[in-house]
Amino acid sequence: MVLEGLRRLEYRGYDSAGVAVLTDQGIEARKKSGKLANLIGVIEEEPLSASLTGIGHTRWATHGGPTDQNAHPHLADDGALAVIHNGIIENFAEIKQELLAKGHTFLSETDTEVAAVLLGDIYRAEGGQDLTKSLQIASRKLEGAFTLLAVHRDHPGVVVASRRNSPLVVGLGENENFLGSDVSGFIDFTRRAVELGQDQIVTITPDAHEITDFFGNPAEGKEFTVDWDAAAAEKGGYDSFMAKEIHDQPAAVADTLLGRADAEGRLTLDELRIDPQELKGISKIIVLACGTSAYAGSVAKYAIESWCRIPVEVELSHEFRYREPIVDEKTLIVSISQSGETMDTLMAVRYAKEQGAKTLSICNTNGSTIPRESDAVLYTHAGPEIAVASTKAFLAQITATYILGLYLAHLRGNLFTGQIKDILADLGKIPAKIQDILDREDEIKDLAVSMAENQSVLFLGRHVGYPVAMEGALKLKEIAYIHAEGFAAGELKHGPIALIDDGQPVFVVVPSPRGRDSLHSKVVSNIQEVRARGAKTLVIAEQGDEAVKQYAEFVFYVPETPTLLMPLLATVPLQIFACELATAKGFDVDQPRNLAKSVTVE
Ligand code: F6R
Repeated sequence: MVLEGLRRLEYRGYDSAGVAVLTDQGIEARKKSGKLANLIGVIEEEPLSASLTGIGHTRWATHGGPTDQNAHPHLADDGALAVIHNGIIENFAEIKQELLAKGHTFLSETDTEVAAVLLGDIYRAEGGQDLTKSLQIASRKLEGAFTLLAVHRDHPGVVVASRRNSPLVVGLGENENFLGSDVSGFIDFTRRAVELGQDQIVTITPDAHEITDFFGNPAEGKEFTVDWDAAAAEKGGYDSFMAKEIHDQPAAVADTLLGRADAEGRLTLDELRIDPQELKGISKIIVLACGTSAYAGSVAKYAIESWCRIPVEVELSHEFRYREPIVDEKTLIVSISQSGETMDTLMAVRYAKEQGAKTLSICNTNGSTIPRESDAVLYTHAGPEIAVASTKAFLAQITATYILGLYLAHLRGNLFTGQIKDILADLGKIPAKIQDILDREDEIKDLAVSMAENQSVLFLGRHVGYPVAMEGALKLKEIAYIHAEGFAAGELKHGPIALIDDGQPVFVVVPSPRGRDSLHSKVVSNIQEVRARGAKTLVIAEQGDEAVKQYAEFVFYVPETPTLLMPLLATVPLQIFACELATAKGFDVDQPRNLAKSVTVE
């Protein structure tokens, strides 16, 4: 069961893995560097004894390299105690000095082992009886971010866990209970789950779970039911989760739109703890996010500014709070996070809250920390995203920001109800249009296979096509390990055009030729500029844009849609391109090197 849970959670980190089980003889542990398959190999060679209580961990290395030694669990109390940990313990060095002075020894370089030895030390000092109380005391001493799980030989059938700034959920089964970094760890066994708050300790036995704060005061968790099942977290016949999730996108967009608007075009958010009058009075929006989610924010900026006439800044969460940002009670912070646990974003949201800002979370993970700490929430209903490279969450995030934009435009009276209804109707047509692209995916797949040996690919776009270009480049970097850059097409002549050499592939996201704006012709000029310098131009254009053909080695057409909605279509071929090219190179597209799905460290 523990290995099955780890298999489902492996996307969160895969540098090494380990398990510990409680048996009649005490604790048995196995651990191994590399992916979970290596650990399974070790266990096959050296099977574990029968057990009803176990913990397991997959690691994304922070303190100490991804070696067997540094893999979790870490044992303490003469092998009677096993501990696993997510996060970073910031004061581990000073605690380690204190423990060394007391005569304790260490086998690894990790901060986790320090927590384990500290817990063992406290357990003994407290009389060697109360594991929960010992973890409360230990947690009060630790600084930083941690989810710690501990089992002890003296307490069969008990797992004790502690949580500060790092994810942990409880799963409630029949005569069995679970803990997981997220619900996918136990989704095979139960869909009933309990959210924990910050600085809480939970003790589970087969038939109970008890929550306290770090001082032993009783606390309550919030129960919820997971609205997807184990099948949603399976590959469903595709070669990879990434391929499956690309194909989930029509449903991800449709489900995110579902039930948002009533017949009058009035929209609803999932949770609103802000007075709508206050929302009406906001003077600016700052979008905080990282990576792909930040590109969703960059797309949203164009739509929200256009519909609501409110200035929108988009900032990488980790840069935000270090520049003394100007934030007040008239600022709305919109955080975008698939996981809801990205530490950089969580910290930025907290900082903004302290400055008095209102906070709204766009998130794909029910029960996660960022939505829980925000004043308002809009969930993206993309379903579980397992592949490390984000795909369906990106489209669902853009969709959710558009719902937010329309909601604010309605509240503030910037758009008429009829206009909102028209935009919602256009959004409603997006899933079928994505499906049309997916039905023609072979065109882009063939191109990707033919380009498997390329060393570098550039991506250009303007307006909403610019973040699409950035996202196309990020996908290629992270899963195909190819140098890729996304540029604003207009910026090219200010420097990057020097990169263009004979045969350099350049993807260009071309805006619609319809309408009065001059963007189309500007981008066509940019294509000609790079082509004149030897570039191989690969174009994503709107169906019917015949003019662009003569400037392109390759054209992929996406269905017609209003300009602001174009990213929901133009991104899809770029995702397919990256996925197929990385597959052709023989890489594991779901678990690219050096990455982890939830980045719960700063
Ligand atoms: C890229 C990717 C990352 C995430 C980023 C934020 O494919 O997955 O760039 O988008 O780490 O993660 P969330 O959205 O969980 O906050």
